[in-house]
Amino acid sequence: MGPGANRPVRRRQSAAVDGPSSTAPIRTRALTKRYGERIAVDALDLEVRAGEIFGLLGQNGAGKTTTILMLLGLTEPSGGGARVVGLDPSRHPLEVKRRVGYLPDAVGFYGNMTGRENLRYTARLNGLRGADAEVHIETVLEQVGLTDRADGRTDTYSRGMLQRLGIADALIKEPDVLILDEPTASIDPIGVIEILDLLRRLARERGMTVLLSSHLLDQVQSICDRVGIFASGRLIGVGTVAELATKFGDGAAHLDATFVDGAPDPSAALRAIPGVIDVARDPADGTWRIAVRPATASTRVREAIVEVAGRNGLRMTSLREREPSLEDIYRAASRAIARPHGEVAA
Ligand SMILES: Nc1ncnc2c1ncn2[C@@H]1O[C@H](COP(=O)(O)OP(=O)(O)OP(=O)(O)O)[C@@H](O)[C@H]1O
Ligand SMILES: [Mg+2]
Repeated sequence: MGPGANRPVRRRQSAAVDGPSSTAPIRTRALTKRYGERIAVDALDLEVRAGEIFGLLGQNGAGKTTTILMLLGLTEPSGGGARVVGLDPSRHPLEVKRRVGYLPDAVGFYGNMTGRENLRYTARLNGLRGADAEVHIETVLEQVGLTDRADGRTDTYSRGMLQRLGIADALIKEPDVLILDEPTASIDPIGVIEILDLLRRLARERGMTVLLSSHLLDQVQSICDRVGIFASGRLIGVGTVAELATKFGDGAAHLDATFVDGAPDPSAALRAIPGVIDVARDPADGTWRIAVRPATASTRVREAIVEVAGRNGLRMTSLREREPSLEDIYRAASRAIARPHGEVAA
């Protein structure tokens, strides 16, 4: 038998992955990974669009790293397929690696070399040399905030510094697609803000497509255009935070109101407004949290609150709608899949 003996199978697989919107830089069809009896990734259909920041969100063991390894051709799928920058990673892993920046969950560098030397090594592997490479290395070091320590050996780096060097390393080849496994793990709070700002800039200014995994809801919420909620190897919801809120939310809108110090208790007046289903004062900052159902009544209820506050001499200082947190959504989504078959949602 010739080398083409197994081609028809491959081709069928390709056709399945190349759907109608086949321009998406990352897409998977029924991508599956089994480890013995355990299914780490279960028939994943994912599409990350050009120029967006997509967050793969899930708890420990959800299958995030396994998915990323399959996208990079670092582990072989048990079923289904993927296309990354148009390539099948299990057939063209080197080419995918050349074109996609990757930050692994545990970065490794040559400890006896400096940060700059490590980046120079990566640059050379990617065909970048000489003055151009040096200028570029300087730029990425600055971008990740590592200029000061660039000439120290990496075995003297803290974990956060190694993580930053890992991001710099992923940026060296100026990729169109960046895949980051827990990019802010072990980075301090100020550093997290800097890194997230950097990723946002790369997406906005350079049109880079970013896929990142995280279990940190607030970070994903602050930076991602869309998120995929991953649980037990399955994608249980994809969309903007607002879309997921509608899908998994409690059907209520949430308003926050504040009043001047010493104002009378507004709760009775607020509760009397049709559509208001709950009023509670947040002891932390004194904000009144007002739940409205249905959520579509929120504009009308806001107008009524302004009117009621005026009529009752309650001097309101602010009134705004609060986006549901991804954490609320995540909990609701996890509950939705945990619900036994046949049980009907309330
Ligand atoms: N090499 C392996 N051999 C056997 N099982 C594995 C292997 N790698 C991962 N798994 C299993 O696959 C599942 C998914 O693991 P994965 O590392 O993809 O999760 P994750 O979402 O990245 O979790 P974390 O947030 O902890 O990084 C887990 O149950 C894990 O134990
Ligand atoms: Mg992981």
